[in-house]
Amino acid sequence: MPQAIPRSSAVRRSSSSSRASLAFAALSLLAAATSLAAPDAPAAAAEICDPSAVPIPSIFDPVSPPAAEIETLSWLLLGICGAIFVVVQGALVHAIWKYRASRAPQTSSGEPVQVYGSNPVELAWTVIPVVIVFVLTLTSVRLIREIELTSPPEGSLKVVVIGHQWWWEYRYPDQGIVTANELVVPVNQPVWLELHSADVIHSWWVPQLAGKTDCIPGHRNATWFEARKTGVYVGQCAEYCGNQHANMLLRVEVRDQAGFDAWVANQQSSPVDDPAVRAGREVFLALACQSCHDVAGVSDGAFGPNLTHLMSRATIGSGVAPLNLDTLRSWVNDPQVLKPGCNMPSLKLDDAQLDAVVAYLASLR
Ligand code: CUA
Repeated sequence: MPQAIPRSSAVRRSSSSSRASLAFAALSLLAAATSLAAPDAPAAAAEICDPSAVPIPSIFDPVSPPAAEIETLSWLLLGICGAIFVVVQGALVHAIWKYRASRAPQTSSGEPVQVYGSNPVELAWTVIPVVIVFVLTLTSVRLIREIELTSPPEGSLKVVVIGHQWWWEYRYPDQGIVTANELVVPVNQPVWLELHSADVIHSWWVPQLAGKTDCIPGHRNATWFEARKTGVYVGQCAEYCGNQHANMLLRVEVRDQAGFDAWVANQQSSPVDDPAVRAGREVFLALACQSCHDVAGVSDGAFGPNLTHLMSRATIGSGVAPLNLDTLRSWVNDPQVLKPGCNMPSLKLDDAQLDAVVAYLASLR
């Protein structure tokens, strides 16, 4: 059975906002540093990063047992490393002050007195670090054994995660659902993730839910989480996987049971077939769209995200922008504007074709 989140994390939560901001700033810097995104991406791309829109992805605000355990270990590591920092820097400042040039005892040649080794000191700086490393190793190994389950927890929802350059595919085998980029799960139910990759190594990381787990080509990895609070939790692919690595964002929506059931029912329904947008469907089928994208009963492309219920999602391009008619139109017209380097080319549609396809896609709720 999953362990309860330690009570201490709830107490700390109130004081975690400044630390969380730091963590988010560091995450953003990391993402920016590894991205080759064009500097003039539309303003829409920035909105999704607005911290007021979604919770800050901080490891210090866990809502799931594995994340809570990782937080506890992080505080232990920070405490020990902080103590080492204070001791080492203190000794450095002390030495700089006490042995400054103007106070150093001089030998007859004008050189400072030379000191050659001290057995007790050398023994201390060898033994103490060895003990510290040993303690950190043991606590880390114990935690990894505790949170890395080898089989699904009882009553868990199974989801297969497939990392692609640069988006996420989610398959719910028991519900017969295939979707992309936004994982929807019920609150207070364990979720068992089986992770694969379609191309290179990616890493699934939603800091508030679980630790990083790699998606490796030809290999099956697994991880789990159990969200204890409804809401939206975001994350980031945590393994450099090419030029749009930074825009391979993760979004997990945790719903109450009724909300989850409604989502499942909608995802299982046939795609909307609206006669008013048939022209758009014809364009979709006549051009390359259908060879990459699956719309249940209409096309069966598997290279790009499944679009059967596209408009049930909040974002487009794996979180690069909010999904609305403007961003959808911009994306279909030329995906390279919102996500430079992504694998979908501009199909150079004329205005009439563009209007028709966008209208069709917008009908896929
Ligand atoms: Cu996928 Cu980085």
